[in-house]
Amino acid sequence: MTKILLTGATGYIGSHTWLALVDAGFEVVGVDDFSNSAPAVLPRIARLSGREPVFERLDVGDTAALSALVARERIDAAVHFAASKAVGESMEQPLAYFRNNLGGLISTAQALQANGVHCFVFSSSATVYGTPEALPIPESAPLSTANPYGLTKLHGEQLLRELERCDPRWRIAYLRYFNPVGAHESGDIGEDPRGTPNNLMPYVAQVAIGRRERLQVFGGDYPTPDGTGVRDYVHVMDLAEGHVAALRRLLDGADSMTVNLGTGRGHSVLEVVRAYERASGRRVPYDIAPRRPGDVAACYADVGLAARLLGWRARRDLAAMCEDSWRWQSKNPQGYA
Ligand code: UD1
Repeated sequence: MTKILLTGATGYIGSHTWLALVDAGFEVVGVDDFSNSAPAVLPRIARLSGREPVFERLDVGDTAALSALVARERIDAAVHFAASKAVGESMEQPLAYFRNNLGGLISTAQALQANGVHCFVFSSSATVYGTPEALPIPESAPLSTANPYGLTKLHGEQLLRELERCDPRWRIAYLRYFNPVGAHESGDIGEDPRGTPNNLMPYVAQVAIGRRERLQVFGGDYPTPDGTGVRDYVHVMDLAEGHVAALRRLLDGADSMTVNLGTGRGHSVLEVVRAYERASGRRVPYDIAPRRPGDVAACYADVGLAARLLGWRARRDLAAMCEDSWRWQSKNPQGYA
């Protein structure tokens, strides 16, 4: 069986991708330092996947420990999620972001290279498109960043492209995520943000469950149909399956690829609120607040390349994203705690 190293394995996208990989017949070796996730995810992965998870608590910055694990487990390929992802935090601690995200990436690549592993899936983000010039956004759109977090994604891509140029044994999938939301359909794993959620859907979920009073809608005067920001929300299980598709292509010998993972459809903040109210049967009171600095009016993916290259298309709609998020939220009102 093909063995995949999953870094950031107990985080939000990592844990869902773990299940999708097992489902697709891969063996998974997970690592995480629990800097933004909880060990409580592991027994749930065990139950949902029907296997005892192979896991090591490890900081990917520890190249020697990671390399020893890659050797011992005879890893064939890696999916690298381990990174910090909060834009605001990255502006307060840029160096910590450079070290964790870029240092962690370099260390992971070194540990793989030391063991002759050159098949790699990198978590990139639609944030690399900056303020889009045209919609939907194709992979060929100009790239720019507006904060340290975004810079770590853009420079992470550039660093890996240079690595490939120098050593063509590397085959890399650069997956640019739009807005991952929702949860596994069991409602037993999901997103468990620490402190106040930065992102829309976890915030809406906490208002619906009564942990927070009202949503602040950041901006009601954007040039969008209802004045609120438009994003391409993609179900985290669709996203997870996108990783499986990319990995399969690479393992089959495909060349490196840069691919958007989104639905190709934009939804406004108010559409999300209404869909969540329908899914949960709860009210989500909100106020229109000033725009959040750095936000763009609208952002959604051109998904043509993902379909052509990966044969992958997001299948779950906004209603399913909200229903699955709500199942997770209502079964686990305090997250994994
Ligand atoms: C954000 C990050 C992006 C990152 C992505 C995934 C910013 C500026 N961008 O994307 O770099 O890759 O998360 O982690 O932080 N909204 C509200 N009220 C809220 C929260 C959000 O109205 O309390 C609105 C936002 O203005 C936006 C939409 O909801 O229009 C989605 O916001 P969010 O979930 O934070 O995602 P992005 O800003 O697209």
